[in-house]
Amino acid sequence: MSLMTWIDERFPATKVWNEHLAEYYAPKNFNFWYFFGSLAMLVLVNQILTGIWLAMSYKPDAMLAFGSVEYIMRDVEWGWLIRYLHSTGASAFFIVIYLHMFRGLIYGSYRAPRELLWIIGVVLYVLMMATAFMGYLLPWGQMSYWGAQVIINLFSAVPVIGPDLGVWIRGDYVISDATLNRFFALHFLLPFLLAAVVFIHIVALHKVGSNNPDGIEIKKNKDANGIPKDGIPFHPYYSVKDTVGVAGFLFLFAAAVFFAPEMGGYFLEPPNFDPADPLKTPLHIAPVWYFTPFYAILRAVPSMAGSAFPGVLAMGAAIVVMFFLPWLDRSPVKSVRYKGPIVKGAIAIFVVVFILLGWLGTQPVTPFLTLLAQICTVLYFAFFLLMPIYSKMDKTKPVPERVTQ
Ligand code: HEM
Repeated sequence: MSLMTWIDERFPATKVWNEHLAEYYAPKNFNFWYFFGSLAMLVLVNQILTGIWLAMSYKPDAMLAFGSVEYIMRDVEWGWLIRYLHSTGASAFFIVIYLHMFRGLIYGSYRAPRELLWIIGVVLYVLMMATAFMGYLLPWGQMSYWGAQVIINLFSAVPVIGPDLGVWIRGDYVISDATLNRFFALHFLLPFLLAAVVFIHIVALHKVGSNNPDGIEIKKNKDANGIPKDGIPFHPYYSVKDTVGVAGFLFLFAAAVFFAPEMGGYFLEPPNFDPADPLKTPLHIAPVWYFTPFYAILRAVPSMAGSAFPGVLAMGAAIVVMFFLPWLDRSPVKSVRYKGPIVKGAIAIFVVVFILLGWLGTQPVTPFLTLLAQICTVLYFAFFLLMPIYSKMDKTKPVPERVTQ
C-alpha cells in the first residue's frame, strides 16, 4: 500500500486536492484582474508572518511602545525590513483588495449565484479595516494617537449610548495604556479571524464556481463527461499563471519596501515619527490613505445640533450599502463588456468620485473642498441607490454562448 493510499483512507487528501485544484474547472478566459484574489492571500500571509516577528520585539506599553519600534528599526537584526514589509504590506493589502473588489464590480461577480460570496468579501473588507485601524495605534506616534482619538470620538457621537461606547472601546476616559493593550491583543487576533473567513470565502467560491470577464456561467455548457467546455483545471493552468501575478506584485512591492516605504507620507505619515503627546494636537489629522474616502464622506455631512452623528451615519452607510450591491443591479447581463453606455459611464464616474474622495480626505478643510466632497458624497450614494433604475434602462449587447478569448 502506498503512503498516499494510507493517508487517503484516514484523511481525504487526494479528494480535496482534486476537488479544489486538479479537477476544479475555472473559466479559461481569466485576465489579469483575476490575479488579485491569490495576491490578497499572499499579502495576508506576509502580514501574519511579519506581524508575529514584530511582536517578538514590540512592547505594548504606552511608555515603551514608540521606543520599541525605534529599537526594531535600528537594533533588531533585519528589524527594519520586517517592519517595512508589514507597514508597506498594509497599504499593499488595500491596493490589492480595492482592485479585487473593482474586478467584481465590473464583471458583475456579485450577481446570482455569487451574492453570498460577495457578502463574505465585504465582511473581509470590514475586518481588514478594523485590523488596520488597531494596528496603526501600536507605534504610539502622534498620528496613531490623534487618529484613534478622532475615530473613537465618532463612536461617542452616537446618541444615548455614545459616551459609554467610547469609554468601552478605550477602556478609559482617554486613549491610554489600556487602549494600547487591547488594540494590540485584537490586532494580533483579527488576522487569524480574517484567515478563517478567507477559507469560508473560498468554500463559497468553489460551491458556485468563478465568474469570468464575459460573465458567462461555464457550468451551463458541459461536455459528455460533465466537464465545462469553457473550463480548464485550476492546477496546473492557473496555479502557474498566478505565479506571474506574484512575480509582478513582488517586483512592485519590493520597489516600495526598499525605495519608498513611507510613500511620501501616504503609507507612513510624517507626524507618526514623533511620539504620541496627549497635550499636543497635530495641526492636521488625517487617517491613512485607504480610509480617506470614508473620512471625506464623514466630513462632508454637516453636524446637527453640534453632533457629528449625521456624518458618522453617512460614513457607515457608505460601507453598508456595499452589502446590497447584488440586489441593486438589475441589468440583464453581468459583465461590463455587454453593458451599455449608462452603466459604463456610471462606473467611470464612480471611480473618479472614489479617488477624489480619497484625495479630499487627506486635505485640510476649506469651503470649496467641502463643497466638492459634498458633491462626491451625493454621487457616491447615487451610484448605488439609483442603480436599480439606470442598470435597467441601459441598452445591453447580446452575450455570446461561449467565453471569448
Ligand atoms: C482578505 C481578503 C480577500 C481574500 C484573501 C480574497 C480571496 C479571493 C480569492 C483567492 C478568490 C478567487 C480568485 C479570484 O477570483 O481572484 C476570490 C474571489 C472573489 N472575491 Fe475575494 N478575497 C478577499 C476579499 C474580498 C472582498 C473584500 C470582496 C468584495 C467585497 C471579494 C469578492 C470576491 C468575489 C465576488 C469573487 C469571485 C470573483 C469572480 O469569480 O469573478 N473578496 N477572492
